[in-house]
Amino acid sequence: MGGFLDEIEPLKQTALAELQAAANLAALEQAKGAWIGPNGKFTALMKRLGALPREERPEAGKLINAGKVALEAALADRRSDLELAAAQPGYPTDFTLPGRRRGLGKLHPLTQVTDDIVRAFRKLGFAVADGPEIEDEYHCFDALNTPADHPARDAQDTFYIATAATAATAATAAQPAPLQTRPTSGTLLRTHTSSVQIRVMERQPPPVRIIVPGRVFRRDNADATHNPTFHQVEGLYVDQGVTVGDLKGTVEFVFRELMGSDVKIRFRPHYFSYTEPSYEIDFANALVKKMGKEWLEIAGCGMVHPRVFENVGYDPEVWTGWAFGFGVERIAMLRYAINDIRLFYENDVRFLHQF
Ligand code: DAH
Repeated sequence: MGGFLDEIEPLKQTALAELQAAANLAALEQAKGAWIGPNGKFTALMKRLGALPREERPEAGKLINAGKVALEAALADRRSDLELAAAQPGYPTDFTLPGRRRGLGKLHPLTQVTDDIVRAFRKLGFAVADGPEIEDEYHCFDALNTPADHPARDAQDTFYIATAATAATAATAAQPAPLQTRPTSGTLLRTHTSSVQIRVMERQPPPVRIIVPGRVFRRDNADATHNPTFHQVEGLYVDQGVTVGDLKGTVEFVFRELMGSDVKIRFRPHYFSYTEPSYEIDFANALVKKMGKEWLEIAGCGMVHPRVFENVGYDPEVWTGWAFGFGVERIAMLRYAINDIRLFYENDVRFLHQF
């Protein structure tokens, strides 16, 4: 009865095709029942084995069993595919779907403002200089003609860095050293970028035309307008015959580049130990008016003090110069109408993405 053996393979192929084509789990269950369930058409082959001549039974039995194993494997395969598809829409991958985009990062608003400040000064021929954030007292204060009794030098206002010696003294003392006692090392986190004026002049002969963007540190508690670390841009211009007029013209040009042509600048007499005369720069524009103010203090500046020139070996009879320093956060807050400085440091992308 070669006829029976010949029936097995085609039946298996049809069953396989039907199992593999099942479009969903319900259709798969139906195909299973139709072929390999108790009343299935492939199962029915088994029941006919008994009617075969004894010598044909082993081969037929082997073929039917192998077929059943193959069908059950196909059933399991298809079932796991369909289950995955149900749990995970889009499976298998549809390559025609649009890709999943990664959010593109942006420059931090403080970086953007700093870049714009640098760009404006570059137009006037200024170079960018840099200096250490961990400074010594000499470059931060003494060389800038800032006397030992100046409040900025108080441990309440500045982060001093303890040396091994001062740390050991503090550890062995019965009472911890009072906060007001300034460590002898004189190493500190710079309180302003003005220290870089000194470092640059020590390194190069005049003329000098630099700006210094950088991070500075003060012992302030964080609130809407203060943070223990913030950013400044320092400017220094040294040449022969430099005047306050050059200073004012430069500051006006840069602020108009940054904030628009309606900007007004006012110089108000002030005191800084490293400049003489010294001024505070007041700023006015439509936004300042909206804030209900006429002027907003934005920077300090002045003509470089002759003693500062002497400290770096420049002859004050020959060289003149001006310097200024302002806070980057202050300008960014004005430019973007931001009312809390802490927003800059929280790194909340909902804030950062607006700029
Ligand atoms: N260093 C000052 C500060 O941190 C700012 C400043 C004032 C810088 C006058 C200068 C200057 O270069 O001439 O508040």
